[in-house]
Amino acid sequence: MIFVPTTFNDIGNGCAVVFLHGFPFNRSMWREQIDFLSARGYRCVAPDLRGLGDMSDKLQFVADSEGGETERQAEACRTISTMEDMARDVAALMDELKIDNAIICGLSMGCYVAFEFIHLFPKRVRAVILCGPRAQGPDETEKINREAQALRVLAEGMEFAVASISTKLLARRTVDEKSDVVRRVGEMVLSTDPLGAAAAQRGMAARRDYSDDLAKIDVPTLIVAGREDGVRTPEDAEFIDERIPNSQLIVIDDAGHLMNMEQPQRFNRAMLKFLHSVSEARP
Ligand code: MLT
Repeated sequence: MIFVPTTFNDIGNGCAVVFLHGFPFNRSMWREQIDFLSARGYRCVAPDLRGLGDMSDKLQFVADSEGGETERQAEACRTISTMEDMARDVAALMDELKIDNAIICGLSMGCYVAFEFIHLFPKRVRAVILCGPRAQGPDETEKINREAQALRVLAEGMEFAVASISTKLLARRTVDEKSDVVRRVGEMVLSTDPLGAAAAQRGMAARRDYSDDLAKIDVPTLIVAGREDGVRTPEDAEFIDERIPNSQLIVIDDAGHLMNMEQPQRFNRAMLKFLHSVSEARP
């Protein structure tokens, strides 16, 4: 069942860039990139992915409003949101917005969704930006941990996840000097619906190993890593850079997992340079 995202930004005109947020975040994490690129001739589309952000009540709504088979399907969707589900939702949104192809930019979970999107709809991808990505699939320990996190979030809510912001998600300098970023990240985490978060956790636990897909990615690809990312290391990014034929990797200093929010100027400069190189390379 496809859930076309109903809460999204669609700002600017020109070549489309579709932004896929990480977990447990929402589309607001791309604010600085949307402002920057939409003022420079790009159309920026940033949906809330299934069950997350302002899309959080949608799964609940379908479950409450229908009976029978629809009820059963909705229950399944509430239990797990796969990366493929999310990729198909994004394609459906692009259909609705009449966007044939786009530059796909994901962060972390958004990269898993991007990998699925590239696999399912290769002709709709002009270029790729992968931020804090990991290609390898989950091992048994990761699967067990994710299920434990899903159950915990359902039992306790999102509060416990806030603790990891300063210990794992953000660079030391961000924590010390950028209280607005720390606050925004905390707000995103706390506003996430536990049901949607648990479903996404289970979806990530069920994701494929994307390692063998990498050599087949035949569009220009920018990989961005945060030097102090405690969730996805620069080595995860190097693994991907070594396997995608036409890729380049940049590592941003004083940045952690949310490098685009922590160092927006450096991130935006690198992204724009890459986007210019993509349009110059087009026939
Ligand atoms: C994210 O930021 O999307 C998460 O760290 C992804 C994950 O848990 O693998």
